Amino acid sequence: MQEKSVAIDGPAGAGKSTLARALARELGYLYVDTGAIYRTVALRAWEAGADPSDPEQIAPLLKGLDLRMDYGADGVQRMYLSGRDVTEAIRVHQISGLASQVAALPPVRDFLLDFQRRQAMEHDVVMDGRDIGTVVLPHAGAKVFLTAAPEARARRRLLELKQRGQEAELETVLRDIVQRDEQDRNRAVAPLRQAEDAVLLDTTELGLEESLKALISLVKGRLAQ
Ligand code: DC
Repeated sequence: MQEKSVAIDGPAGAGKSTLARALARELGYLYVDTGAIYRTVALRAWEAGADPSDPEQIAPLLKGLDLRMDYGADGVQRMYLSGRDVTEAIRVHQISGLASQVAALPPVRDFLLDFQRRQAMEHDVVMDGRDIGTVVLPHAGAKVFLTAAPEARARRRLLELKQRGQEAELETVLRDIVQRDEQDRNRAVAPLRQAEDAVLLDTTELGLEESLKALISLVKGRLAQ
């Protein structure tokens, strides 16, 4: 039921996934990372050699798309493309940019809308993305727009990449984040923006524990209303 669900939106690297996952655990909800779904479509486009900005090339790929999502015993969301586990493959650097490109295409957004709403019909969810509070779950019981200064987001993203064993420069990560945000904010369909009834949480000056505490109290307050 949408009224019990939690929508978390915000730009890249704001800590959405880490915080949303922890919040879901606290509430006993299912965490749905919608960015992973767009990333899986981007991987499909990449493997097919299709231009990620061309709807004429991408739309036909959606017809035969075998996309599945499930949760392991560890509670981690896993993505499957034609039966193949692509959970790790969709995290590589190139896929971030491609995901932002395919996400701007109306046929892709239409196709994934039902998929995402179904999750919220079948479970109590904490769902994170760019348009969850504005488009996917407009009746969510609690909506949060999570953000932080671009430099803080780039530093966090760099740390995350390093932990995954991927090398990168702060400057490059920052440039990519800013470019991706521009793309996500300025697209015609379902752009990244704060829903009117969403609460803004800026984590620039907050550590992880502090951010989580603030998020939990904010969301619990909203859901109790
Ligand atoms: O959250 P992420 O970095 O994994 O998302 C990858 C891209 O997918 C992001 O740049 C924009 C797109 N996206 C979207 O358009 N709408 C969502 N609800 C989630 C992600």
